[in-house]
Amino acid sequence: MLLATATSVAEALAIARSGIDFIVAQGIEAGGHRGHFDPQAFDPQMSTFTLLQAIRQQTAHPVIAAGGIMDGAGIAAMLQLGATGVQLGTAFVLCPESAANSAYRTALKQAGESGTAITAAISGRQARCLRNDFCDFSRDFAAHTIPDYPLTYSLGKALAAAAAAKNQHGFGAQWAGQGAALAREMPAGELIKTFVTEWQAS
Ligand SMILES: Cc1cc2nc3c(=O)[nH]c(=O)nc-3n(C[C@H](O)[C@H](O)[C@H](O)COP(=O)(O)O)c2cc1C
Repeated sequence: MLLATATSVAEALAIARSGIDFIVAQGIEAGGHRGHFDPQAFDPQMSTFTLLQAIRQQTAHPVIAAGGIMDGAGIAAMLQLGATGVQLGTAFVLCPESAANSAYRTALKQAGESGTAITAAISGRQARCLRNDFCDFSRDFAAHTIPDYPLTYSLGKALAAAAAAKNQHGFGAQWAGQGAALAREMPAGELIKTFVTEWQAS
């Protein structure tokens, strides 16, 4: 079974034509890197809400919604709009099973105040991160001055390690989606059961 992410209707239609089984409609809310096919090409930056509906209007191919879904009500909303399934990332970062370090967890718990930002400065490709020192430091960098992925990612990891050695933890690749403030700290299995209960209540 093959799944591929689409960040636009054109990418979704290319996925459907290629015989891949599921389209993952990845909205601009999503944490981390999105599967935008060509980093040089125009990115319509569609929300999960609009991207899902626009893809569904153009193809009967099954679509999985991704980006900003944090609880059972969000899952119910996406299924109501015609999604075959949902994909959640940020919702699991605080789970004990996740590899996130303590600085990342602490920053995520404070996301209600600081929010998230999209930057290419951490990895060389646009990705959504908790708004930390790295995001603020690079905010005014011109796009053409940032080396491509993955060179910048290697440099970014080295910078994060050097900063952490000086007890500064705001330079990590702390990927998170716009729903970051809604992340809950509990074992992954318990979180899945909570989603099901909330979805059924919706
Ligand atoms: C820590 C983290 C790393 C991610 N890395 C990637 C990635 O390398 N490539 C990609 O296409 N999506 C990546 N994603 C996005 C997920 O595949 C998923 O689409 C996204 O998390 C859904 O949005 P949400 O974070 O709002 O739940 C990442 C997400 C997180 C939270």
